[in-house]
Amino acid sequence: MNITLFFDGLTPDAWVQGVQQALPQAHVSVWVPGAPQADHAIVWAPPQQFIDEQAGLKTLFNIGAGVDALLQLKLPPSLKVVRLDDAGMSVQMAEFVCHAVIRHFRELDIYDADVQTGRWSYRKPRSRADFSVGVMGLGVLGERVAKALQVFEFPVNGFSRSPKSLPGVQCFSGVQGLAGFLAATRVLVNLMPLTPETENMLNHTTLSQLQPGGYVINVARGKHLVDEDLIALIDSGHLAGATLDVFRTEPLPAEHAFWKHPKITVTPHTSARTLREESIAQIVGKIQALQRGESIQGVVDPARGY
Ligand code: NAP
Ligand code: GLV
Repeated sequence: MNITLFFDGLTPDAWVQGVQQALPQAHVSVWVPGAPQADHAIVWAPPQQFIDEQAGLKTLFNIGAGVDALLQLKLPPSLKVVRLDDAGMSVQMAEFVCHAVIRHFRELDIYDADVQTGRWSYRKPRSRADFSVGVMGLGVLGERVAKALQVFEFPVNGFSRSPKSLPGVQCFSGVQGLAGFLAATRVLVNLMPLTPETENMLNHTTLSQLQPGGYVINVARGKHLVDEDLIALIDSGHLAGATLDVFRTEPLPAEHAFWKHPKITVTPHTSARTLREESIAQIVGKIQALQRGESIQGVVDPARGY
């Protein structure tokens, strides 16, 4: 069995060693143009040339949850695309989002500013009931985030493509459910995949339907959000601010207004990182399951886009 690896901009040497150790009978190597045909590939954002040359591939394992970069390529219809299925990401995403929600709710940025001037001053406690959090995307990550937020007793709403039911979460779905979801939500957490339906979905029309004092946490993809619309709604006072981990162009260009906006917190696409050991264990487990003729989790439906 041949396994080839290609990670855009990264050297996958440690991954090659890890996969080789877990599958000693396999031939594991880093892809270079003209490399021999492989059975399985482990990739992040490969070029079209990779797909065209590796025409005999059975499975393309993505080392992330989001497959938007892969689905932009022209892929053979028979190729199975498999996304990472948690692999240690959901707990990271839950801690990141809870931290962002709590920092905003408890006004910790204002206390930080007070520390800079040596000021000892209390803020009036805010009511948790007024801070309903709406999680857009109730998949592997969104569901874990919704559960984690409930620990802190925030009212939690959820929004998905198809109807869902989660204990303690007010669930909305589909285009017809969007207005109700937004009207019930003050803090919006985006955890949808980037697809033709979800691109630019966080825009002036949708964000202005959030409750006054709304707050946006985008941890999915930069192309979900219309940057100028977010800034306009913060500057008009309808929204209180945002925490943004993902951007249309990454790294975020030095001249982008998000960097210096006093009500926007920027992090460098780090809310849920791919963990090498967990991911190798998951991918190797799936390769072994496929060899035994079993079905696996995380197979992407190209028509749905995730
Ligand atoms: P997932 O398990 O595939 O879940 C996707 C969820 O989004 C599902 O609940 C799905 O609805 C919903 N959805 C899809 N299209 C929708 C639409 N048009 N309207 C409403 N809901 C829609 O994905 P995941 O593993 O949770 O990951 C979500 C995304 O997070 C990834 O695609 C990736 O872009 C992003 N991500 C970011 C980071 C980071 O570090 N910032 C890390 C990992 C992942 P159904 O339940 O009805 O299918
Ligand atoms: C990271 O953004 C991922 O999709 O895993």
